[in-house]
Amino acid sequence: MADFHEFYPLRRHNTFGFDARARFAVHVRSEADLSAALADPRAEGLPLVVLGGGSNVVLTGDLDALVLLMEIPGYQVEATSEGGDAWLVTVGAGENWNVLVNRTIADGMPGLENLALIPGTAGAAPIQNIGAYGVELRERFAGVRAYDRQAGAFVWLDLQDCDFGYRDSLFKRAGAGRYIITAVTLRLPKGWQPVLSYGELARELDGQASPDAAAIRDAVVAIRSRKLPDPAQLGNAGSFFKNPLVSATQRNALLQAHPDLVSYAQPDGSYKLAAGWLIDRCGFKGVSDGPVGVYGKQALVLVHHGGGTGAMLLALANRIADTVQARYGVRIEPEPVVL
Ligand code: EPU
Repeated sequence: MADFHEFYPLRRHNTFGFDARARFAVHVRSEADLSAALADPRAEGLPLVVLGGGSNVVLTGDLDALVLLMEIPGYQVEATSEGGDAWLVTVGAGENWNVLVNRTIADGMPGLENLALIPGTAGAAPIQNIGAYGVELRERFAGVRAYDRQAGAFVWLDLQDCDFGYRDSLFKRAGAGRYIITAVTLRLPKGWQPVLSYGELARELDGQASPDAAAIRDAVVAIRSRKLPDPAQLGNAGSFFKNPLVSATQRNALLQAHPDLVSYAQPDGSYKLAAGWLIDRCGFKGVSDGPVGVYGKQALVLVHHGGGTGAMLLALANRIADTVQARYGVRIEPEPVVL
């Protein structure tokens, strides 16, 4: 029998630190735990919520649901069969992402250094295709093992199946609610090349002729620590909004009106706008609305000072999005999953 906790407090299971209770919660430490929880009569008819580190969710109230707290451990390395040009690192869904980044670097397998210090678990990383400083998970990815609730079986989903996009994947669209990821397999090419395309990272490493993965990791950690609040100190979920994609025509019109607009050309000819810049220019940086607010060093990050609710945060987020839309004609969309 799975160990069901009734009316389980979730404050320590979401990095915003919102108070909410789960009708039932189960610590899932193995695939057997998962199967037992799903087969338990108490789970019948209840919606299912899967939580990793809770670093990309907004809890808006108590969850009349069975919450699976994914804590499956594991770390295994093998070389790819096709010529052994990469290491395949398979990790349990519950492993801490940053611990994994550090461990692969220490074990002589570079490739994840640009993704250092991203909060959350390995199992949550594919959901939004985590990315930072010029690298996205999909560039270091082989596949996931997941329980397919529709098929009633464990399945393997490869890079194509996961259908990754910018902060997006199958798991946020057609596969939402269908798959429960239990393990992730990363693909770390042995022919490692540093990725220094992100201007701020290159500047941080200035003076280093050929930085190794550990040096890049250290630089990423330094930048993130300066700009992003530590969830252990201040409730947050990293970037709250995605950087919006607009057509070249719209971007050029905006640039004419606002010559200091920050935008990035995309391979398909469209442009990504810096949502942090848009929000900043609307005057929201550092603004508080009671217990919730906008971080003072990065306008893309919403914060919870304590004693607030997810609903308050969403109200502030809507006000920000409406203001940006009225001023720039662009709708910015939240990145976290709202529960
Ligand atoms: N900017 C402002 N004011 C602000 C914030 C940003 O003017 O308050 C400007 C900056 O000056 C810069 C531009 O906006 O020119 C972009 O800012 P930054 O380099 O900080 O990156 P970002 O677009 O805000 C994205 C990711 C981060 C990731 C960094 C580095 C998204 C939604 N966010 O932020 O990801 O760490 O790039 O790659 O794509 C996350 O997803 O939680 C996250 C932190």
